[in-house]
Amino acid sequence: MKKTILPILLLLLSAQLSAQDFSVSDLTCEHRTDPLGIDQAQPRFTWKVKTERRGWKQGAFRIQVASVADFSTAAIIWDKKVDSDVSVLYSYIGVPLQSGTRYWWRIKVWDEKGADSGWSEPAWWETALLSVADWKASWIEPEQEAAPPRYSPGHLLRKEFATNKKIASARAYATAHGLYELYLNGRKVGDQALTPGWTVYYKRLQYQTYDVTGYLQEGRNIAGAMLGEGWYRSGLGWEKNWAFYGKKLAFLCQIHIRYTDGTEEWVLSDGSWKTSNQGPVQANEIYYGEDYDARREIPGWSTVAFDDQNWRNVTKANYSKSNLVAAGSVPVRLIGEIKPVRIFKTPDGTLVADMGQNMVGWIKLKVKGKKGKTVTLRHAEVLDKNGNFYTANLRNAKQRIRYTLRGDKNGEIYEPHFTFMGFRYVAVDGFPGELTPEALTGVVVHSDMKQTGTFECSSPLVNQLQHNILWGQKGNFVDVPTDCPQRDERMGWTGDAQVFARTSAFNMDVAAFFTKWLRDVAAEQRPSGAVPFVIPDVLDRPDSMKVGVSAGWGDAAVIIPWTMYQVYDDRQLLENQYTSMKAYVDFIHKKSGDSLIWRGGSVFGDWLFYHPSPTHLDYHVSPDAHTNHDLISTAFFAHGADIVSQAANVLGKTEDAAYYKDLFEKIRKTFVNEFITPSGRTISSASQTSYVLALHFGLMPEHLRATAVKYLAKDIRDKKKHLSTGFLGTPYLCHVLSENGESELAYDLLLQETYPSWLYPVKMGATTIWERWDGQKTDSTFQDPGMNSFNHYAYGAIGDWMYQAAAGLRMGAPGYRHIVIEPHLTGKLNYAKAAYQSSYGEVASGWERSGDKITLRVTIPPNTTASIRIPGTDKESVRESGTPLASSAGLKKTTNQGDGLELEYGSGKYVFEWTLKSGK
Ligand code: BGC
Repeated sequence: MKKTILPILLLLLSAQLSAQDFSVSDLTCEHRTDPLGIDQAQPRFTWKVKTERRGWKQGAFRIQVASVADFSTAAIIWDKKVDSDVSVLYSYIGVPLQSGTRYWWRIKVWDEKGADSGWSEPAWWETALLSVADWKASWIEPEQEAAPPRYSPGHLLRKEFATNKKIASARAYATAHGLYELYLNGRKVGDQALTPGWTVYYKRLQYQTYDVTGYLQEGRNIAGAMLGEGWYRSGLGWEKNWAFYGKKLAFLCQIHIRYTDGTEEWVLSDGSWKTSNQGPVQANEIYYGEDYDARREIPGWSTVAFDDQNWRNVTKANYSKSNLVAAGSVPVRLIGEIKPVRIFKTPDGTLVADMGQNMVGWIKLKVKGKKGKTVTLRHAEVLDKNGNFYTANLRNAKQRIRYTLRGDKNGEIYEPHFTFMGFRYVAVDGFPGELTPEALTGVVVHSDMKQTGTFECSSPLVNQLQHNILWGQKGNFVDVPTDCPQRDERMGWTGDAQVFARTSAFNMDVAAFFTKWLRDVAAEQRPSGAVPFVIPDVLDRPDSMKVGVSAGWGDAAVIIPWTMYQVYDDRQLLENQYTSMKAYVDFIHKKSGDSLIWRGGSVFGDWLFYHPSPTHLDYHVSPDAHTNHDLISTAFFAHGADIVSQAANVLGKTEDAAYYKDLFEKIRKTFVNEFITPSGRTISSASQTSYVLALHFGLMPEHLRATAVKYLAKDIRDKKKHLSTGFLGTPYLCHVLSENGESELAYDLLLQETYPSWLYPVKMGATTIWERWDGQKTDSTFQDPGMNSFNHYAYGAIGDWMYQAAAGLRMGAPGYRHIVIEPHLTGKLNYAKAAYQSSYGEVASGWERSGDKITLRVTIPPNTTASIRIPGTDKESVRESGTPLASSAGLKKTTNQGDGLELEYGSGKYVFEWTLKSGK
């Protein structure tokens, strides 16, 4: 009897041990889930723990990497157990990895008491081509004139090849000069758009990796490609910079086939490919749009059924491959679809569809009609004062589609290939029959970042503002962070990205997106350390604006890496960008010389700050919204030095840390001397931005902070609670107020409905963030069409304050390893709540009030700790999940803080209830 009981007991015991109340999930490699094409030699792993348990902490973890999914002993190439709470971006440091190979990995974690989770589900990543020598294919060029005309047709390429054995797996690696779409046996490969994306091509050209196993067939196969102009050859920038990167389009591709018998084969782009420019794409460019003649479609052109004997030969081209890099960001994809909310005729007789949302992407057109009929789609963001279709603000960007029907009796469906548009309204011309919503579908296109944040409060207008911020991000995170997605810019304006980066990282997972773009920032940086206005830099031409540097713009090279490091605890990103960060600050230092005042360093000033105009003088008292440019540039110089010193500290570069800290102190002193009066006024400008920068960057002497805040607050009150800041002051304005006892005034600004304010555009019907506070004036006339985008994320930087201060969801240590919950309560809202998917799991903070009764709901993810600040009460008066604090499970420490409490907890879900002491 005993003999049988013991094993059963042991079995029960082990089942007990593994059936834990925690498990591991969400395994990511280099910020991505099961990614193909990772070119890091030592990729990094992140995992999350799921548990409801309060105060859960990881005591240890074990990681295994294997060459096959079953983790059989022979297949394991790396097996490591570490006593550590690290669960974010842990580096692989096993044997060197092979190119083009899939590796499986799994994780087991232990809590602090030694119980383990059992193994996670396996995850994988696949290496890219890790060395230039792995490229066997040749660059090929379709036949092109030496000086091809602008708006030339797209090119088709194809190649037949045979597979005679059973295929185990196949991968395609592809890129282009221009944009490409890869086809196999008549099917477009993958679901990515606008490949290979936009980078500093001559230094970093991305290639994509595709799993094409399911696209191949035994026997004859056809590989095909379509090529369009893309960023490579389109006119970019307002100076009609055509063919900035080169005049000839080219294609590079290799397909790696592994057979089940262990043999392998490569299909390469080479001189044997055939090409034609007789296809349907007649003209295409990023700003222009696309002309597509469906009569010229070549049925089956990328299938074996087609005979290519009339096609031309391609030419091999000898471009270097040393600039090739694996795609570093999440792909651009077709993310969603929206239908028109209204189809109507404008007063001047134009047939227009209203998509109900200012969006970026294109229209999928469904049409049935006679062969040869052309349907034209024009795209605009707004209707004018009279309700007519308005395109003047698009400047030289046509963003027009011309589709000529092939006359299919069953109807035809068309989507453009090599362009995108920023629009809410579509003017439709030449549509056969009655135009119904069925004919038009808005396809929303952007980098496929996971949404990580939500914010909501009791003000529907603020909720619409949050919606607008999110849509501004979608529309302008199309592989590169752009200023706007519609007019003839759509460029990686550094300043815009700098001011919006923090907010963007709440809304979506931008880790991979910015990792990639920051590499381009470093790649474009001049040997002097100068950082151009736009990245990739398409403004630097002999006849154009020379590399200019402007304070607050060039600082993207310093501020964004620091922000990303903090949000994602990504030390490697900081390490990679450090030389660039330092070089930029050193560049400013050289420009400033011994004076430490960066004279002439601000080209754009506090861009688009409030300018009084006759129609807006009604409430305006003081015209002092202008900020002295040297004050701006010197403030950013100081801030840059401060950040580099902190970054050096993180990276253990103690000498640098001391040097830049000292530099910061010196600039601070100079700044005070030059721009601040002994009574705490900023001199040479008394603008809101000047106070905001001095206070936020720690330049205002401690003893003058309170008076400086008073001057700032007075200016806002004098303006009847209106802001007057531009791009540079706006992101920090409300932070400065709420951090200095003026949180009610910050709410007044947030909730202000009249111009200039965040809610004024909302009241005017905006569905994205406007470039200008008054893009459309109260009488419905527009601002200067030369500079008036209705989808410009910069002023959306208030989102950061909404998450951090209104909802109170703040980071306490890099990566949210420690969290600070500190809601700024107000009587002006009934509730505010935010949630954020951090690298550790969900962080949430939300409060609601009914009279003086407050409820605060908090979620703290496993393996993190939190300081939760409870204002306006004492420890006897707070209930947590219905119990007094004294018996609140998991409470580690309570301290009095200001007029309230600070509570230390670990992970868990908490509900605090209290009644505000009078006067709050
Ligand atoms: C862009 C801005 C940019 C600015 C520089 C504009 O044309 O659209 O957003 O930052 O130029 O001042």
